[in-house]
Amino acid sequence: MPSTSLANMATAATSSKMPVLAALTLLLLAVACRASPYYPLELGYYRYKCPQAEAIVKAVMEKAIGQNPGNGAAVIRMLFHDCFVEGCDASILLDPTPFSPTPEKLSPPNNPSLRGFELIDAIKHALEAACPGVVSCADIIAFAARDASCFLSHGRVSFDMPAGRLDGTFSNASEPLKFLVPPTSNLSDLISSFVVKGMSVEDLVVLSGAHTVGQSHCSSFVSDRLDVPSDINPGLAGFLRSRCPANATSGSGDDPTVVQDVVTPNDMDSQYYRNVLSHTVLFTSDAALLTSPETAKMVVENAKIPGWWEDRFEKAMVKMASIEVKTGYQGQVRKNCRAINHY
Ligand code: HEM
Ligand SMILES: *[C@@H]1O[C@H](CO)[C@@H](O)[C@H](O)[C@H]1NC(C)=O
Ligand SMILES: *[C@@H]1O[C@H](CO)[C@@H](O)[C@H](O)[C@H]1NC(C)=O
Ligand SMILES: *[C@@H]1O[C@H](CO)[C@@H](O)[C@H](O)[C@H]1NC(C)=O
Repeated sequence: MPSTSLANMATAATSSKMPVLAALTLLLLAVACRASPYYPLELGYYRYKCPQAEAIVKAVMEKAIGQNPGNGAAVIRMLFHDCFVEGCDASILLDPTPFSPTPEKLSPPNNPSLRGFELIDAIKHALEAACPGVVSCADIIAFAARDASCFLSHGRVSFDMPAGRLDGTFSNASEPLKFLVPPTSNLSDLISSFVVKGMSVEDLVVLSGAHTVGQSHCSSFVSDRLDVPSDINPGLAGFLRSRCPANATSGSGDDPTVVQDVVTPNDMDSQYYRNVLSHTVLFTSDAALLTSPETAKMVVENAKIPGWWEDRFEKAMVKMASIEVKTGYQGQVRKNCRAINHY
């Protein structure tokens, strides 16, 4: 409804003193002026501040994924590790300094496995050239993860990403250990880790589907999946044993990587759920999705119903990307994603 007709109704309501009409008018005004459904984020946040922002991110991501699809997997995982720790505030990107010698990126859930930092630098560099000091690093991660999902799924996972996140100024390596549970986790620990961040059991099942792309180091699954009896498919186990040292240790110098999804390694699709059903997944945390009737049912739906997972993944990514976002005095727009601004 155009605002002029709302204004006319408001005049009519006050002059005629009709309580019902007045109430209706207020209701209409409330609807017309309501905040973004993504509050405090909004779609098209950079529409006026930096109109090219989203196109720039997309162009860099397209090129990077063309060179190596792992670049897409990297930023999708980065969004998860950013948002679950201190909220989606790019605290994951901060480098060590004398005042903050052990930031999140040095914590075991991130180091040495998390990748994509140089790619974020490249995007930031392009954005600073176009619109200096405008686009936050936290929004860059969110846009990049959205674009990665779109490219890796050949357009089947396609969604708008609201923006307006500010970058945080605090990062501590002890925090990721509190909020990012290890791949050896059982279902109850996985669910708890999602619920404390306002994410549901279904979000857990749906977002775990991101393990349809990317890689894993052997150390992330050897001790609990290969070295001891597990439900892992014997064919996959044999393949993994041929690739991984039996004592694979993170950061040891002998910790090779393997693909997450052995069927369609670079495609963002629902193959992950068919892999869960055939026990052809790497982690205890993946296999755990079959250990309750509720989550097992969701796995089957995601595996079998075309488009089911894609629809839910789009919404769950936007939801995850809104965890504990910072606005106003809570944050800043960093000039360099690796360091906080000093004024
Ligand atoms: C539910 C609990 C989760 C656990 C325990 C978990 C654990 C892991 C582990 C251990 C790796 C391999 C790291 C390595 O050794 O290189 C990995 C990779 C990955 N994870 Fe997760 N993850 C979880 C949820 C998620 C979520 C919610 C997302 C995103 C929506 C995600 C996206 C990815 C991606 C894309 C990779 C591949 C990264 C690359 O290729 O660099 N994961 N995850
Ligand atoms: C980071 O956390 C550790 C352990 O909780 C603590 O000892 C240290 O002081 C923290 N560092 C900062 C900069 O807050
Ligand atoms: C899940 O694992 C935790 C340890 O991380 C353990 O305390 C808990 O009892 C386990 N829950 C179930 C249901 O096995
Ligand atoms: C792993 O085992 C091999 C031989 O079995 C040994 O040479 C190597 O030092 C071990 N590596 C670690 C990190 O323990």
